[in-house]
Amino acid sequence: MAEEFLNRIRHKDLRARVTSADRAAELIRDGMVLGMSGFTRSGEAKAVPLALAARGRAEPLKVTLMTGASLGNDLDKILAEAHVTARRIPFMSDPGLRRAINAGEVMYIDQHLSETVEQLRTCQLAPIDIAIVEAVAITETGGIVPTTSVGNSASFALLAEKVIVEINTSQSEALEGLHDIYIPSYRPTRMPIPIVAPDSRVGLPFIPVPPERIAAIVFSSKKDSSAAVDQPDGDTRAIAGHLIEFLKNEVAHSRMPHHLHPLQAGIGSIANAVLHGFIDSPFHDLTMYSEVLQDSTFDLMDAGKMVFASGSSVTLSEARAREVMARFESYKGKLLLRPQEISNHPEVVRRLGLICINTALEFDIYGNVNSTHVMGTQMMNGIGGSGDFARNAFLSVFVTKSTAKGGRISSVVPMVSHVDHTEHDVDILVTEHGLADLRGLAPRERARVVIANCAGPDWRDALTDYYERAVTRGGHTPHLLEEALSWHDRLRRTGTMAPQ
Ligand code: COA
Repeated sequence: MAEEFLNRIRHKDLRARVTSADRAAELIRDGMVLGMSGFTRSGEAKAVPLALAARGRAEPLKVTLMTGASLGNDLDKILAEAHVTARRIPFMSDPGLRRAINAGEVMYIDQHLSETVEQLRTCQLAPIDIAIVEAVAITETGGIVPTTSVGNSASFALLAEKVIVEINTSQSEALEGLHDIYIPSYRPTRMPIPIVAPDSRVGLPFIPVPPERIAAIVFSSKKDSSAAVDQPDGDTRAIAGHLIEFLKNEVAHSRMPHHLHPLQAGIGSIANAVLHGFIDSPFHDLTMYSEVLQDSTFDLMDAGKMVFASGSSVTLSEARAREVMARFESYKGKLLLRPQEISNHPEVVRRLGLICINTALEFDIYGNVNSTHVMGTQMMNGIGGSGDFARNAFLSVFVTKSTAKGGRISSVVPMVSHVDHTEHDVDILVTEHGLADLRGLAPRERARVVIANCAGPDWRDALTDYYERAVTRGGHTPHLLEEALSWHDRLRRTGTMAPQ
């Protein structure tokens, strides 16, 4: 091994534990629970999972795989196709694994991202046998310096029986110092988490694992996958425009300062595009307290609009990753990566008063939101952190385009086919047509605003007709139960929600 690479293991005794990915993977046995780094396609262990998949093709080998969130480099697909993943927690976004989940081949526990390690810590989930964590370096004391994500890596490494560290030499050593590893103490005697602003630094810049628990060290050089987000389009620009007009009005009425409250923005093309829209807003000195930092965070920093961003991972497009990493030192004082239970912690989200912007697949006329299940049955990705944020937000915003699949689907429906965020957790709904401010409105008032402001013009009459007939039956939240999911049923039967 080249000297320059070995120098990344500053605890000299640990250098004797360097081995190949194949040898490290031999530590993993059938039925084990693995805790692996990786969050929104960044910072995942890359070499050991591939060695594990190769073993899975040759011998019976099934594991429970826990991560921070989604994995890059097609690892979820490769592990699912090798039939290694028997159980997957708490988030994924890979089409191959999605297929296996929806076929019932993989048991998927779609979980609020802040909760996994709380349940592990209290033995409510089966304990982790082996943690596999990607690192930039190992410190003099054996501390693990993560790469482009923290996710659940810190607690996985601290709670696992053994730890495999993958030192990725393609990840810049400039990342050291970016992380803030704070682990809450046990309940019910836990003290408050001392974060009072997005830039509060409250922990260590590495994961403090006892060196004797590091069983193997593997070198890898595979890069993070680039983010697969679409560029802003007319619809997402319109969504951003409605939201910015609304926020300007909030500032004008002194409900928020000019620099707003810290922003949280969800994963995916729409949330990224909406955040990007803040470049053309009058707001300045913005901060983020979020989970994934996408291209838009760096675009806002470069535009002089954003002064600080706290997250749990950095997930960038290929071009943006090249630019950002080339001058990473210039961003370093403006960024922090935390464990996901801290980036998403309800206590901190509520204390900082976040403006939380997440994406819906569909929402209903009363404000219930479905972010995960197409047609109420088929898993898309998972709830991720959206529930951690939405329930505790200062302002809980959900955005979506008003239609999907070339206009065959209305994203505004009489009743959602699955509920991730109840009407009680939703303040503002936005589509390209407009914004519905649901604060202080009763269900009957909400329905009128949602239909008029958010639904596509072709769908408004049908929604109004449904609502008015439902009202004749009475109720606090009027419905025609036999028709409430008829739009989805029609889509299943005919390929469109529109009446034939
Ligand atoms: N019915 C069926 N399919 C729908 C739909 C609907 N009502 N609305 C959107 N879709 C489809 C789109 O057509 C697209 O399909 P494709 O991949 O075949 O092109 C897909 O869903 C993604 O939609 P898109 O419009 O590209 O939005 P996105 O990339 O912003 O993703 C979510 C939207 C909801 C899937 C994504 O944000 C998500 O998984 N959210 C849940 C987790 C979360 O919010 N995490 C953030 C916390 S920090």
